[in-house]
Amino acid sequence: MIKVENVTFRYDRSGEPVLNRINMTIDEGEYIGIVGPNGCGKTTLVQHLNALLYPADGRVSVDGMNTNDESCVEEVRRRVGMVFQNPDNQIVGMTVEEDIAFGPGNLELPSPEIRQRVDESLARVGLKNHAKRQPHTLSGGEKRLVSIAGILAMKPGYIIFDEPTSYLDPSGRDRILSIIKEINKQGIAIIHITHNMDEIVSAGRIIVMNEGRIVFTGSPKEVFGKVEQMKALKLDIPVATDLAWRLKQRGEDIRTDILTIDEACLEILSRLQSLHAS
Ligand SMILES: Nc1ncnc2c1ncn2[C@@H]1O[C@H](COP(=O)(O)OP(=O)(O)OP(=O)(O)O)[C@@H](O)[C@H]1O
Ligand SMILES: [Mg+2]
Repeated sequence: MIKVENVTFRYDRSGEPVLNRINMTIDEGEYIGIVGPNGCGKTTLVQHLNALLYPADGRVSVDGMNTNDESCVEEVRRRVGMVFQNPDNQIVGMTVEEDIAFGPGNLELPSPEIRQRVDESLARVGLKNHAKRQPHTLSGGEKRLVSIAGILAMKPGYIIFDEPTSYLDPSGRDRILSIIKEINKQGIAIIHITHNMDEIVSAGRIIVMNEGRIVFTGSPKEVFGKVEQMKALKLDIPVATDLAWRLKQRGEDIRTDILTIDEACLEILSRLQSLHAS
């Protein structure tokens, strides 16, 4: 479990806190979405979860290890992987497989174990044929897959994805999203930051942040059901939820706890069928 207790953080000692008394827990195997306007502190918060930043006040612990305890930092970073928004910040190897082997190499694992982890991770992201490529020759989407493979090779318990689909085309985005779901099914907890609400309709829980605080949290249905509050924060809601909400505003008797286009289609079809029947 990751526990964030009363965490306050400032980049500039005399300035306003960027995180203001944040409390949250993340259980093993959970899938959590984090949303909020630009600059509200999402990246700053998740950097506390793998000891890239330390709280000025309060406490962060990962599976019982305090991130402020220097002797735990290495293990905390192994257990909590971070896929950065810009994959170029994460690529270190001359070839794709060297890059993926870098983390397990630092753990001083035996060579056959490293080889096995690299092969497994390459297979999980579908990059087996690119093992010998130079990372800088890959496309943006492929680079992101390499950084995910590098994290998987560390066998973490939790993976943070900070806007993992930015700059990707729809098929690149779908590929990353299905890998995230697959990883979660295999028991790794996911912390997924995004501005695209459709990406996290299947998350177990969503945390909404604003100005360094958690403003509300709940299941996707609970959070996206607060349409006015989300709009007041200038945040989107899933396209299908918005459609249902707009139809309701126009007086249609329609369910509004709809999250996907498929659900919206079925709801609208059943409305049309009952209209035809009457
Ligand atoms: N290294 C830094 N030094 C000083 N201020 C910073 C630093 N990094 C972030 N900030 C400031 O902290 C605040 C929160 O930034 P953060 O990157 O956590 O926001 P975010 O919610 O991830 O935003 P976005 O959606 O744009 O990625 C912003 O006001 C930002 O300018
Ligand atoms: Mg950010």
